[in-house]
Amino acid sequence: MTRTNVSPTEDQPQASGRIPVVSCRDLRKTYKLGEQRLEVLKGISFDIMAGEFVAIMGPSGSGKSTLLNLIGALDTPTSGRLMLAGTDIGKLDSDALAHLRNRLIGFVFQQFNLLRRTSALENVKLPLIYSHDHVHDPDAVALERLAEVGLEDRQHHTSAQLSGGQQQRVAIARALVTNPQLILADEPTGALDTKTSVDIMALFSKLHGAGMTIIMVTHEPDIAAYAERLLRFRDGLLVEDVKQVPKAMPWT
Ligand SMILES: Nc1ncnc2c1ncn2[C@@H]1O[C@H](COP(=O)(O)OP(=O)(O)O)[C@@H](O)[C@H]1O
Ligand SMILES: [Mg+2]
Repeated sequence: MTRTNVSPTEDQPQASGRIPVVSCRDLRKTYKLGEQRLEVLKGISFDIMAGEFVAIMGPSGSGKSTLLNLIGALDTPTSGRLMLAGTDIGKLDSDALAHLRNRLIGFVFQQFNLLRRTSALENVKLPLIYSHDHVHDPDAVALERLAEVGLEDRQHHTSAQLSGGQQQRVAIARALVTNPQLILADEPTGALDTKTSVDIMALFSKLHGAGMTIIMVTHEPDIAAYAERLLRFRDGLLVEDVKQVPKAMPWT
């Protein structure tokens, strides 16, 4: 596999003038547990530009999910700067954070996080109902997203009636329904078998090909290989940041 080092990030945003989708500088997160302080992120700096497909790897407990939750505006850093599409999230109150999150980000989780007894279509539609933006025909938009993940014929199935791979497809359609700029996926294939995992990576590769920015946490090298950039964490520090030639899909 060909890999080239990404040059170390400077203090200032990219010289190219383009605004990164994600920009962090000396990002730190410390949890307080009683008297103890647990330093989970110890000063992380990187930029992610629009259209990148980035895999985040690292041992269990190295702070990957913590970082993804910060990027997803689900949590706030202890110190350092985090900019999402040019907005400094440290300066936002919780309402503004929620608004930014809904407008900018689609989440995909290891355990899918679908409502079990609710249809695929209703699950995909849910973020539109919470969205501030008026959507003329939410059913049509949700159905279009289900079609994009190849599941329009399953729209009336409940999650409980779908396989793991199908549930993750529904979750991806749900993540896409608000037209986010960024997909954040935390171990999206962690609960799936190998073949189904490759199907999900085919979908991510297709989305990436269409210009979507994707940040995916995984501890599986075979899955990280589909990304074009790899960030590796150890003990709360970024220890590797490399570009790589993404693994081609089996049929390409
Ligand atoms: N809300 C929290 N409160 C206290 N400690 C936490 C919290 N979330 C995560 N941690 C701790 O932070 C460390 C990193 O967790 P996490 O980011 O989930 O790691 P990873 O996703 O890389 O496995 C772990 O030691 C975990 O126990
Ligand atoms: Mg995790």
